[in-house]
Amino acid sequence: MFEGKNIIITGGSSGLGEELAYRLAAKGANLALVARDQARLQSVVKNIPSATAHKVRVEAFQSDVCDPSSVEQTGRRIVETIGIPDILINSAGIISENYFEKLPLETFQKVMDTNFFGTLYWIKAVLPYFQKKGQGRIVNICSMAGLMGTFGYSPYCSSKHAVTGLTQSLRVELKPQNIRFHLVCPAEFTSPMVDQLNTYRTAENRKIVQTIPVLSLEKVADEIIRGIEKDKYLIIPGAITRLFEILNRYFPSLTRWTSDLIIRQCYKGPKG
Ligand SMILES: NC(=O)c1ccc[n+]([C@@H]2O[C@H](COP(=O)([O-])OP(=O)(O)OC[C@H]3O[C@@H](n4cnc5c(N)ncnc54)[C@H](OP(=O)(O)O)[C@@H]3O)[C@@H](O)[C@H]2O)c1
Repeated sequence: MFEGKNIIITGGSSGLGEELAYRLAAKGANLALVARDQARLQSVVKNIPSATAHKVRVEAFQSDVCDPSSVEQTGRRIVETIGIPDILINSAGIISENYFEKLPLETFQKVMDTNFFGTLYWIKAVLPYFQKKGQGRIVNICSMAGLMGTFGYSPYCSSKHAVTGLTQSLRVELKPQNIRFHLVCPAEFTSPMVDQLNTYRTAENRKIVQTIPVLSLEKVADEIIRGIEKDKYLIIPGAITRLFEILNRYFPSLTRWTSDLIIRQCYKGPKG
């Protein structure tokens, strides 16, 4: 399914985007990796030949997903360099965790700009190429935070719920044009983003995320690839996370009751 395909991965220089890049190159895909830090992008590009037996083309593109004109230009450069894309994976993302009272408006703006508008700009940039080709596939890396609320994640949950809404609308709207969507909703997994989060997160957030076991980056990447191969719309890595999502969907009052109980037992609050 991936051999000879051209795949754009935003956030391809780190964490999940990087891990997906190694797997997809090993399956014979040509890759365009997008992020801001050129040195980190280049180090992923360098690591790829050792990870694949196929002859694949892997190129790095330095671009900020928050800048729509840079996204559009980068899209054009990618088409000139590796050809018309077959798949777009929106993995670029940031997180910021804190008590709502302590989060400035700029944080909400930055998180929305990156996680939601970055995803939107990239879909806008590739859509004309997909339409020309008569097909395409868009994989939006969302989060369980895009399906439910979590303590301390007010900017992140807002941005990921927006990604869920966008993906749900576009799935139904673009299916007649043979453009397929995948909404990927992992719970927490090991990555540089989480390493950084662990240095400052609130006690309440730390406690509440322990409800679902933290998965390894490798397991999450494997399950995402399998989900795309099976053409699954909603991809939730990890059996316990899937069970949790079903519980939340059919018995939301139970998950609300459980999280209220956990928070009651550990609440310190912004002044604590
Ligand atoms: N880790 C988790 O527990 C978890 C759970 C659920 C969902 N997710 C989602 O999974 C995705 C990947 O997360 P991760 O944990 O792999 O994070 P990560 O290791 O921090 O990687 C984030 C990537 O996004 C890029 N990025 C950030 N801002 C960007 C911008 N403005 N323009 C271009 N690229 C940008 C970063 O590169 P530069 O900084 O160089 O630009 C980096 O390549 C995110 O969407 C995240 O929300 C993560």
